Amino acid sequence: MVSYKVLAGVGLLACVPDAFAIPVVSEPSTTVFSEPTFTPSAVPITNVTSHGPYTGPAPTTTGALSTSVLAPSIPARPPEPYKFAYPADGKLHAPEPAPYTPAGGLGTNGSEPVYRVQSDFDYQSIALALYQEYIELDLFHHGLVKYSEQDFEDYGLTAEDRFLLQFMGDQEVGHATVLTNMLGPEAPVQCTYNYPDTNLHEYIDFSQKLTRWGEAGVYGFLNHLDSRESAQILLQSITTEARQQVIFRQFEGLFPMPEWFQVGVPQSWAWTLLAPYISSCPANQTRLIWQNFPKLNVLNQPNPARTNGSAVYNETLGDYANTLSTADINAGEGCNNSTCGPAITHNRSIPLSYPGRQVFLSWEDPGLAVGPNNSYVTDTTAGAPQFAAWVTQLNVTYTPLQNISGNTAYTIQPNTSTIEGDPAVNGTIFLAITDCDLYVTPFNLTQINPHVRALTIYQAG
Ligand SMILES: *[C@@H]1O[C@H](CO)[C@@H](O)[C@H](O)[C@H]1NC(C)=O
Ligand SMILES: *[C@@H]1O[C@H](CO)[C@@H](O)[C@H](O)[C@H]1NC(C)=O
Ligand SMILES: *[C@@H]1O[C@H](CO)[C@@H](O)[C@H](O)[C@H]1NC(C)=O
Ligand SMILES: *[C@@H]1O[C@H](CO)[C@@H](O)[C@H](O)[C@H]1NC(C)=O
Ligand SMILES: *[C@@H]1O[C@H](CO)[C@@H](O)[C@H](O)[C@H]1NC(C)=O
Ligand SMILES: *[C@@H]1O[C@H](CO)[C@@H](O)[C@H](O)[C@H]1NC(C)=O
Ligand SMILES: *[C@@H]1O[C@H](CO)[C@@H](O)[C@H](O)[C@H]1NC(C)=O
Ligand SMILES: *[C@@H]1O[C@H](CO)[C@@H](O)[C@H](O)[C@H]1NC(C)=O
Ligand SMILES: *[C@@H]1O[C@H](CO)[C@@H](O)[C@H](O)[C@H]1NC(C)=O
Ligand SMILES: *[C@@H]1O[C@H](CO)[C@@H](O)[C@H](O)[C@H]1NC(C)=O
Ligand SMILES: *[C@@H]1O[C@H](CO)[C@@H](O)[C@H](O)[C@H]1NC(C)=O
Ligand SMILES: *[C@@H]1O[C@H](CO)[C@@H](O)[C@H](O)[C@H]1NC(C)=O
Repeated sequence: MVSYKVLAGVGLLACVPDAFAIPVVSEPSTTVFSEPTFTPSAVPITNVTSHGPYTGPAPTTTGALSTSVLAPSIPARPPEPYKFAYPADGKLHAPEPAPYTPAGGLGTNGSEPVYRVQSDFDYQSIALALYQEYIELDLFHHGLVKYSEQDFEDYGLTAEDRFLLQFMGDQEVGHATVLTNMLGPEAPVQCTYNYPDTNLHEYIDFSQKLTRWGEAGVYGFLNHLDSRESAQILLQSITTEARQQVIFRQFEGLFPMPEWFQVGVPQSWAWTLLAPYISSCPANQTRLIWQNFPKLNVLNQPNPARTNGSAVYNETLGDYANTLSTADINAGEGCNNSTCGPAITHNRSIPLSYPGRQVFLSWEDPGLAVGPNNSYVTDTTAGAPQFAAWVTQLNVTYTPLQNISGNTAYTIQPNTSTIEGDPAVNGTIFLAITDCDLYVTPFNLTQINPHVRALTIYQAG
């Protein structure tokens, strides 16, 4: 015990400044030079100069990366009994490894952290996140090139807002760098991209939706990573991305966060929504294992560019994310500075959607070429679709598909709450159609995948 105290004292002395030093109070000097510390170099970035659909030769490799597949799906199993063993009573139940240090936790025993992927799951998940960081890097910078200062001013965004957009693009360089370092030399690199927007309002809406699946796609796998060290850094990147999503909502005049919890989705959902906007990647680009689900169209997708945003039919750009189209908005029907244009927050006088809303859907058949060099193929293992799955906050809520006719049906927007006082269906959410109403919760949501027939984004609020 004595030796422990002496050693602890030595350790402390070595790390703290001299306790007897007398603090000098003086006017701050402006002449002192501060030597810059070592800064890690960023991944090489080029300004992507070409945009648009892929027009090159047919790909030589098609489909998702795969190896031998052991079973068609993962069975549901009972919980592990030890998870009920800890007496959660506010008392301590084990000796403390050090002062003020409760027993337990993962990665807490002093082993040096290794910020490196540890499994196929880790590699594929972080590679997916890297594809996403690279598209954001290009998308945010490209918006500033594609749309003029006048476009931004007319829309109600200033030079300061444009700098914020520029800064958000620059952040992506850092995110791409840390993810690349976790993966090593075969990490995916920048590609070229194909965006659906034809004007600034559509661009903002597309960016707002894209950052939502970027954020949610990572939340879905973060706590399943083997490499908790990588998860730590990724967490600190993705919370930045989440702020970007809120900024784009504000740019769009939407209530910045109309939910109490942010949703997480499976990797294949993020890849389904991301891949169609990648035009081509370099010849030796590392491929991904994830599934591309068929496209789901929301025929009356709420349109944030309208003051009466739920009074719409067929007003999207027809893309995978069901991005808004402004083409059919007449004078007097559109959002602008005063009503639902860019702002810190807006109470939209007419909500974008509401429980009981009839939502009309149509969906594509699988087998379509999508993604980089058209080299991935949409696929589903689901049977005939029966339900719409509203994936929001902490909940997956199923509503029956009605009037199913070929690849079309309608369903009714549910009236459900996550916690008392928190309506579950609001904000930028995920909507899938499924062949059954499988019960899943945030940590096992991926179990839904074998039952997903098609999916998209629904702009609930
Ligand atoms: C990319 O373009 C921006 C201006 O649009 C410029 O400042 C920057 O230097 C360019 N970067 C590269 C690597 O060419
Ligand atoms: C998902 O987890 C819930 C408990 O949170 C469980 O009741 C359900 O059976 C699980 N679903 C599957 C498909 O494993
Ligand atoms: C520390 O914990 C890791 C697991 O996180 C374990 O592999 C390792 O053996 C532990 N080291 C010691 C010294 O207990
Ligand atoms: C929005 O406000 C800006 C600056 O106040 C103005 O230049 C622009 O014309 C306005 N846009 C609309 C649609 O009213
Ligand atoms: C692709 O080629 C470049 C240049 O030879 C190399 O640096 C990179 O590691 C390669 N990537 C993969 C995934 O093999
Ligand atoms: C994809 O297309 C680009 C542009 O045509 C080409 O340079 C690249 O080699 C292609 N990649 C693959 C994997 O075929
Ligand atoms: C919004 O549009 C719907 C459908 O056309 C209509 O029933 C409703 O009255 C409109 N709301 C307002 C406030 O104009
Ligand atoms: C939606 O509008 C497009 C043209 O903007 C048209 O080609 C398509 O057939 C319409 N779809 C439906 C379901 O009305
Ligand atoms: C802006 O909103 C007002 C009030 O709803 C409307 O009268 C006006 O036409 C709108 N302007 C545009 C450009 O949509
Ligand atoms: C905004 O909406 C909330 C909730 O509907 C309401 O309580 C509040 O009074 C509204 N505020 C304004 C200024 O419209
Ligand atoms: C979403 O939240 C906003 C802000 O609280 C509210 O005005 C709107 O009615 C909500 N929409 C739905 C569909 O609940
Ligand atoms: C929503 O999710 C929460 C947390 O898992 C759960 O307690 C609640 O019962 C769910 N609500 C509905 C309506 O399913």
